Amino acid sequence: MHAITCSGAGGPEVLEWTKVPDPTPGPGEVIIDVAATAVNRADLLQRQGHYPPPPGASEILGLECAGTISAVGAAISLDHIGERVVALLAGGGYAEKVAVPFGQVMSVPTGVGLVEAAALPEVACTVWSNLDLVANLSEGEWLLVHGGGSGVGTMAIQIGRALGARVAVTAGSKEKLDRCAALGAEVLINYRDQDYLDVMREETGGRGVNVILDNMGATYLERNVSALARDGRLVIIGLQGGTSADLNLNTLLRKNASVHATSLRGRPQSEKAAICRQVERTVWPWIHAGVVRPTVDRILPLRDAAYAHTLIADGAATGKVVLAT
Ligand SMILES: NC(=O)c1ccc[n+]([C@@H]2O[C@H](COP(=O)([O-])OP(=O)(O)OC[C@H]3O[C@@H](n4cnc5c(N)ncnc54)[C@H](OP(=O)(O)O)[C@@H]3O)[C@@H](O)[C@H]2O)c1
Repeated sequence: MHAITCSGAGGPEVLEWTKVPDPTPGPGEVIIDVAATAVNRADLLQRQGHYPPPPGASEILGLECAGTISAVGAAISLDHIGERVVALLAGGGYAEKVAVPFGQVMSVPTGVGLVEAAALPEVACTVWSNLDLVANLSEGEWLLVHGGGSGVGTMAIQIGRALGARVAVTAGSKEKLDRCAALGAEVLINYRDQDYLDVMREETGGRGVNVILDNMGATYLERNVSALARDGRLVIIGLQGGTSADLNLNTLLRKNASVHATSLRGRPQSEKAAICRQVERTVWPWIHAGVVRPTVDRILPLRDAAYAHTLIADGAATGKVVLAT
């Protein structure tokens, strides 16, 4: 088969369309003939040599895919061959075929085309697991989503609204904020010229935000904790602003607030499988009902992965960039 491989650690130019051996299914795995994958910021970090795949995972980039099951390993019924599915991967999506534990395979949500569906697994599982399982976001609460125009952000706005929360976002341009508004965000903050702490204090009548989904880490830590309401939950999922920062624990303590940091890719297979089942049960019906939609900025050929990476690095995409085989 063909795949995008890295000739070394570096810029987008290290990505090459090459011939590689076909994957074989291990016990409990299936092979998916990939119709499409999608770009995640983690792929850029892995390409640069900063985010190695977990032990045992494919060295090939790609954390999600949509396609058709073409082979099964031991303990998986042959009846699944020919099913159109999406999957959450630990790697290997930038290829014509990928092996994946069957527990991380999900149905294609009704009403979504196969290629477009490749935009869903990583953001749906990330957002669902953090907003529901970690933060227990509840009806009527305020959710602040940093990077609202990102792949994750566009899904977080919609799932936040579906859970009955009021949603505020930060983004770096009016165009992205307009897209966030169309997805259901009611407070739009341009992080380049507004202080989200001031805006959220005013919007919440001084009470603060109940849940923050944060992609920045260190640079936002202190202000994020200050922005939380009593019993607030800060969930850090990205470290775009660095890994180390000071935090006055008294601020947390006085509010009875909590800070969480999570990684989907590093979770054990059993946890990922459980998240996939919940996403199928909860998020897919919202998609079927039109309450949640994949946000696809554009669809490019998989061979153009290098160009797709420059788009993501430059912040030129709103939502997901999909790569079709
Ligand atoms: N922990 C996990 O399990 C997990 C899983 C998936 C993703 N993630 C993380 O989630 C984040 C989003 O992932 P993605 O693939 O959707 O990324 P993406 O589409 O590349 O988006 C990155 C976003 O960062 C925003 N940003 C840059 N500087 C900012 C600032 N100062 N304040 C607020 N936002 C800022 C950008 O906003 P503008 O373009 O508007 O400037 C952009 O929307 C990444 O940090 C990624 O590593 C974590």
